[in-house]
Amino acid sequence: MQKITKAIIPVAGLGTRFLPATKAQPKEMLTLVDKPVIQYIVEEAVAAGIENIIIITSQTKRAIEDHFDRNFELEYRLASTGKKKELEEVKKITKLANFIYIRQKSPRGWGDAILAAQPVLGNEPFAYLSGDDIIDGRIPAIKQLITVFNKYHDGVIGVTRVPKTDVQHYGIINAVPLGDRVYEIKNIVEKPDPKKTPSQLAVTGRYIFTPEIFDALRQVPLDSKGELVGTAGIKHLLKTRPFYAVEYEGTYYDCGSKLHFLEATVALALKHKEVASAFKQYLKNLQF
Ligand code: G1P
Repeated sequence: MQKITKAIIPVAGLGTRFLPATKAQPKEMLTLVDKPVIQYIVEEAVAAGIENIIIITSQTKRAIEDHFDRNFELEYRLASTGKKKELEEVKKITKLANFIYIRQKSPRGWGDAILAAQPVLGNEPFAYLSGDDIIDGRIPAIKQLITVFNKYHDGVIGVTRVPKTDVQHYGIINAVPLGDRVYEIKNIVEKPDPKKTPSQLAVTGRYIFTPEIFDALRQVPLDSKGELVGTAGIKHLLKTRPFYAVEYEGTYYDCGSKLHFLEATVALALKHKEVASAFKQYLKNLQF
């Protein structure tokens, strides 16, 4: 059985939902308490045993590469002023994983981002973590998908239940429950009308793919915006291979959305060693 050692994180999107904050900085570098969104995602993958992080990036996202690289001047100044804790913190980030960067020449959809990484991914199953979806939980969400992959050896998608009024923002699965929060997917519909939705189980940026996804993506048409949406490749693959879903344990936040981002900030601040108790007190005292 092949072990999953590689994850891709596409970050080439423009972040238009978060302007003007994302005019000069990547949306993935927006900070939740004291860490950028992308660091939470990398840490989730690393905690699931992934060693190689392949970031599909673009020319406006250089801050991400710098974040996971050494910063000698900062390290020198922290060392010479005795700021040991901070020094350890910044050095730790560079050692999280092997980082590999691939430039996507234009934001042509997340299916195109997968194809851009094919030369590095090779003929192995791999994890896909969307660059602005955070899942906060006891067991890393991607690890929960890997557990299901290890049992069935085919593609796995992480899903969570959303209100019916929200289904039009997500890929929604039509699936047969197999027990233990696992499903066999029969169909997947991208952003359905709430009146016609096959379920309320929404896809939230966590996938395990087998290498068959590459050929599937090459055989499907672009969408009306000229983008290669990964979901089209999954639908195509479903004709010949089973695909599974796991309703992971954990809370999902779409950090490209202002409201979800604020919710994630509050949830993570209430767990943060340094600020949790004072912040809780602050929230308690708020008058509405
Ligand atoms: C993409 C996927 C969609 C998924 C969503 C959230 O849509 O195509 O199936 O539910 O991410 O992870 P996007 O947000 O890129 O429009």
